[in-house]
Formats: sequence, structure tokens, C-alpha cells
Amino acid sequence: MSIDDVLSLIRPAVRNQGEYVVDHPSGIDVKLNQNESPFDLPDEIKEELLDAFGQVDFNRYPSEQPQELRRALAEHEGVSPEHLIVGNGSNEITYTFGLAFLDPGDPVVLPRPMFSLYEKVAHLQEADLTEVPPRDDLRFDTDGLVRAVRETEATMTVLATPNNPTGRALRIDEIERIAAASPGMVVVDEAYVEFNDEPSARTLLDDYPNIIVLRTLSKAFGLAGIRIGYLVARPPVVTELMKSRLPFMVGRFAEQTALSVLRRPTLLDERVRQMQVSITEVAEALKTIDGVEVVPTQANFVIFTTPMDADRLQDHLTDHGVLVRNMGGYPELEGYLRVSAGTRAENKAFLTALEQTLSAHDQ
Ligand SMILES: Cc1ncc(COP(=O)(O)O)c(C=O)c1O
Repeated sequence: MSIDDVLSLIRPAVRNQGEYVVDHPSGIDVKLNQNESPFDLPDEIKEELLDAFGQVDFNRYPSEQPQELRRALAEHEGVSPEHLIVGNGSNEITYTFGLAFLDPGDPVVLPRPMFSLYEKVAHLQEADLTEVPPRDDLRFDTDGLVRAVRETEATMTVLATPNNPTGRALRIDEIERIAAASPGMVVVDEAYVEFNDEPSARTLLDDYPNIIVLRTLSKAFGLAGIRIGYLVARPPVVTELMKSRLPFMVGRFAEQTALSVLRRPTLLDERVRQMQVSITEVAEALKTIDGVEVVPTQANFVIFTTPMDADRLQDHLTDHGVLVRNMGGYPELEGYLRVSAGTRAENKAFLTALEQTLSAHDQ
């Protein structure tokens, strides 16, 4: 058998996909390209965790679901543990939606531009995708979404709010309109909800059993490297979704680390506030630079355009040791760059590098 024969065994729905690749150039001091928290856990908490971890049996499986963490997250959300599934990051849980809800040809509605993973899940399941473009100011077209879910009779609709990559958010009454119009599931990805003033869509669960809320500890909690995400849904939905889950997706170390942050709510509040201040300061500073246009944001990142070509600008910033994300892969966002909230020093380094590059470009 040739290698081509082997490759032909892989489903076209998989072979047609691109790999998810993030640039990791060397020599980067200021990393503002992945909407992470710039704040690591304090050293004393890390030391405490490492000491405690010495007592753990490495040879034993964890439980299928991390029960202690499930209880703590349920308490954090004000629901019972039966409302939750905890996963190895929220991305990992996204595949559960594909497996549980989507047969080939099923209608799926996604707003554009959208965190790319959902499109991938729809294509992998060979679903029939309808994308709803944004309004001119990059806000969600809620009327368009309501129309699309009705007309296509969507099996699944996904709303990421605040949205990555735009930073724009839906109001809770807009989510409700979409859920009310939808004959299928409405997944609300709230990866950035802590930075927004709007209530969580979890508050709609009692009235709309077709809503599933997806959350992550990668952003506000600052645990992107530890990989914890969870969904909140009505318990009978959770029971069924569990049947499509792999067991043991969350290791003991990740569970203990997440618990240590949940036990320190003031640390979390302080970090969220710092990131909100940070991104507001960056957005305000960007607005003062000639020719720079900034999209209002409800998240811990902001997108902007400049008079310079986005690819070249990104390369120049990388040469200055500053990593931001070029959003040109999204048709609506050609010319846009995205920068995440950094520490004061990181923001200053980014703004200085940007101003230097733009003024050199002017000459
Ligand atoms: C909308 C959205 N959902 C989910 C994620 C990823 O979350 P996790 O780290 O929990 O897999 C991201 C990360 O950038 C995101 O922007």
C-alpha cells in the first residue's frame, strides 16, 4: 500500500481541514497574541500546589469527571453539579457538541467573524453551514441571526459573546431572541464573559432548555496552560452529553490548580479588574495615534487598523519582540490586528514599538 492509499482512507471532511497553527517566533518578550491573562499564578500558590502534588498517586486514574472541581465550579455558577461537564479546556468540549448534535447535512448557523474552531467542528461533522455576516460596525446582526435560525431550522447555533475576534458582545435579550427563535441548540461561548457587564446566558437556562453555556478558565482565571473549561446546561442534557464524552479528560494536577484559584475569589476579581483597566488604557492610547481606528471591545483584547499593511506591521512588531495577532485570515477583518491586555510594561513596549513603526512608515 502506498502512502497515498493510506491517506485516501482519511475522511475528506478531515483532509480538507487546515491545521490550527499559532505562530511561536523566537525572541519574543511581549506576548499579546492569544488573549491570555498576562498574570501568572503567584509563586506561593505554585509552590503550595507542587508540594501538595507530591502526595498524589501518579499511578491511579482520576475520576471520570473531576468531582471536587465540578462541585466548586457549580457553586461558582450558582447551580447544582449536575448542570456541569468539566473538560480539558473549552475547546475540547466543543467536539462534544459536534458528536452529540450534528449528523451530516444538519443545518448549523454561525455569525461571522467567529472563533474558527466552530466552523471546523461543523465541517468535520459534514454539517450544512450558514454564516451570518456582521453589521458594518462589526456588531452581531441579531435580526439576521434570528432569520437564519428560523429559515434553516438550525440544529445548532453558536454565539461567542463577547466575540473573539471582534470584542463585540450580544445583550442578554438578543441571546434570548435567538434562543426563542431556534428549533435547535444554542451554544453560548462565554470565554470572555468576566470582562463584560452583561449577565451570563446561564440565567436563561430555566426558560430555554436548548441553551448550553461554555466557559473557560484560560482567560480571566489565567490558567490557559492548565486546560480547564466547562459547560453549563440543564441536567437531562448533561446526562445525554456525557455519553459522547471520553472519561478522564481532566488530570489531578489541573483539578487542584483550578480549585486553588476558585478558593481565592478576590485574586480573580483583582485580575479581571486589572485586565479591564489594561485594555481600556491600550484602546485609549491607540485612539490617540494618527490613522489608527479601534473597534470598541467588551473583552480583554482589542482589534484595530492602521494606515500600514497589517502583515508588514505585524512583522515589524515581531522584530521589536512584540507578538500581536494579524486578523487578515477573516475576510471582514482584512487590515486588522488584535492585541490582548498586557501588564503595564508590556502595553508600553507594544505602544512604543507601534508608534515607532508607524512613524518610520510615514517618512
Ligand atoms: C471564543 C473562544 N472560545 C474558547 C477559547 C479557548 O478556550 P480554552 O482555552 O478553554 O480551550 C477561546 C480562546 O481563544 C476563545 O476565544
